[in-house]
Amino acid sequence: MALNLYSLNMEKGIHYEGIVTTVNADGTPNAAPMGVICKGPDQVVLRLHEGSRTIANVKRDQKFYVNLSRDPLLFTYSLIGGPSNLDFVEEPYGFSLKNADASFLGEVHHEKNIIKENDAMGENITIMFHSQVTNVKQQKRESEPLSRAICGVLEALVNLTRVRRVSSVKKQEYADRMKEISRVVNHVGGPEHKKAIELIQKEFALRIKE
Ligand SMILES: Cc1cc2nc3c(=O)[nH]c(=O)nc-3n(C[C@H](O)[C@H](O)[C@H](O)COP(=O)(O)O)c2cc1C
Repeated sequence: MALNLYSLNMEKGIHYEGIVTTVNADGTPNAAPMGVICKGPDQVVLRLHEGSRTIANVKRDQKFYVNLSRDPLLFTYSLIGGPSNLDFVEEPYGFSLKNADASFLGEVHHEKNIIKENDAMGENITIMFHSQVTNVKQQKRESEPLSRAICGVLEALVNLTRVRRVSSVKKQEYADRMKEISRVVNHVGGPEHKKAIELIQKEFALRIKE
C-alpha cells in the first residue's frame, strides 16, 4: 500500500513543524524550518510569510519537499547554517534532506493571500499554499512529526507547578508566559491540546492567587 501522511503519524487538522526544501533560482538547494498543516491523507498547507527564499522558490516552482525530523541540529542548521551543514539528496523535482526521518513532495494547487495588520509579527503578507502530497518516503520505520502543541502543553504544565512558589513579580512573568503558550497551542493544536490548555489555564488562575 502506498504511504500517505497518516502513515507518517500525521493527523488531519494538526499543525506540525518540518523542514521545507526548495530549489533556488540558480539551482542550488534551500532549507528552512516551516509549519506544515495536515489537511488530509495527501493534502497539506504551508503558510509562508513574504520575504523568505522558500516563498520565492515555491511561487516560482509550485513544488517543495517537506522533511520530518526531531533532530535539533537539523532544524538549527536549516535556519542559521549554510548549505554545507546539510546533506541534500537529489529528488525528481528538487531536493530532500538525507538525514530526515521522512519526506514528501508537495505540489501547489491553490494559493490564498492573507494580509494581517496586527498579528504577533506586525504587518505582514502571508500566502497559504494548498498542496497535493505524493512521493511519501520513510527513512526511519517509525517517525513521529514534531508539533509545537505538545511542547506548549508541557511548558504550560511546568509553569503551573512553579507558579505558587515564586514572588509576585515572577507570578506576572509566569502569567505572561502562560498567555503566550496558550496562544501558540490554540493556534497549532488539535482538540485535545486545546482541552489540555483550557484545563491548565483554569488551574493556573487558581494557583496564581494562592
Ligand atoms: C519551527 C519554525 C517554524 C517556522 N514556520 C514558518 C512558517 O510556517 N512560515 C514562514 O513563513 N516562516 C516560518 N518560520 C521562519 C522561517 O524558517 C525563517 O523565516 C527562515 O529564515 C526562512 O528561510 P529561507 O529564507 O531560507 O526560506 C519558521 C521558523 C521556525 C524555527
